Amino acid sequence: MRTQVAIIGGGPSGLLLSQLLHKRGIDTIVLERKTRDYVLGRIRAGILETGFVELMREAGVADRMDRECFVHDGTVISYGDNEFRIDFVEHTGTPVVVYGQTEVTRDLYDAREAMGGKIVFETEDVTIHDADSDAPYVTYTTHGQEHRIDCDFVAGCDGFHGVSRQTIPLTVRREYEKVYPFGWLGILSETPPVHEELIYAGSDRGFALCSMRNANLSRYYIQCSLSDSPEDWTDAAFWDELKRRLPAEHAEKLVTGPSIEKSIAPLRSFVTEPMRWGRLFLCGDAAHIVPPTGAKGLNTAASDIHYLYHGMVQHYLDGDDSGLDGYSEKALARIWKAERFSWWMTNLLHRFPDQSEFDLKMQQSEIDFLRSNREAQSVLSQNYVGLPY
Ligand code: APR
Ligand code: PHB
Repeated sequence: MRTQVAIIGGGPSGLLLSQLLHKRGIDTIVLERKTRDYVLGRIRAGILETGFVELMREAGVADRMDRECFVHDGTVISYGDNEFRIDFVEHTGTPVVVYGQTEVTRDLYDAREAMGGKIVFETEDVTIHDADSDAPYVTYTTHGQEHRIDCDFVAGCDGFHGVSRQTIPLTVRREYEKVYPFGWLGILSETPPVHEELIYAGSDRGFALCSMRNANLSRYYIQCSLSDSPEDWTDAAFWDELKRRLPAEHAEKLVTGPSIEKSIAPLRSFVTEPMRWGRLFLCGDAAHIVPPTGAKGLNTAASDIHYLYHGMVQHYLDGDDSGLDGYSEKALARIWKAERFSWWMTNLLHRFPDQSEFDLKMQQSEIDFLRSNREAQSVLSQNYVGLPY
């Protein structure tokens, strides 16, 4: 079997790249180790930067998103009982779109199917061969049958635990990591959101976040210990702790209900450099991870896809390799800014076990400065709505 671009990973990165390239006549095959339903069962963040929305439009996958999304002009930041709103549109002229990543992935799968896109599910033993040559190929097995795909390029869109990053030799790869000493316990409940915009809440008891998927589906998180498991938290205990971390006016209005999903995610900052090795290009979580505090996970995958998509179109349609040659440097320049913002938001709003009294004063002072300074709010807004591609 032969294709122009072999894409490993059928998450948002791989699907979006496949759809964009297909629309420009570039042939791809997506290899996904799970089933479509398994992939769609993942609950992930749902804040989309304008750049991601435009890519979805260019991919012809934005109709349902345009119909069903929320558009948020700002967000609330609170600490204890004090809160203030940051108006993204006032500072940047740009809102953010709220539309669950599960729905993004569903729309991408539907579009791939409608266009006859080639996706192989339940692949095993995916292996990238000769990535540093002019004739790379990928092998994999399905249902015990071995397969080989000869290709021009391999796009590693297989997430943090995938095979692509590991294909780059340790003598070439440099990795940067920070693991945070807490996790996020998240629940999904079929209840109306507590507020029309998101609430990022710091408190003496730890961080909390009030988000949403639609008018009757809310997503809430509380910072928890890494030693916790979801079973340790009854719904009642979750709701009680969430209320303790919110300003009273919101805690009183909170509509609680049974959780339909409950999970704990660890928080990590991670970047691997370079994001290219020969004919292999890493995209999205395969190359970098952010703590979810800045809502940058999907949005950093989007800018990778933007750069790689345009680089591949230039290669195939114009015989120009400048986009591909500049991919890693350009993608990393934006990734590191998103890493900084996500790290900063996480330090701003979480309680760290080893924080001294002085550290707490610094945190409070940072929040007070953000509350009172327009330029500080403008800087947060520019980063939250998305820096330019
Ligand atoms: N072979 C084939 N598929 C694989 C392999 C493998 N060896 N390893 C992983 N995969 C698949 C996973 O099953 C998953 O569906 O690759 C896909 C990677 O998808 P994501 O982890 O969602 O990564 P990405 O597409 O880059 O999307 C980034 O997803 O994890 C969130 O917060 C993250 O919002 C961000 C977005
Ligand atoms: C979510 O809705 O799941 C969400 C929103 C904003 C974040 C993180 C997660 O920063």
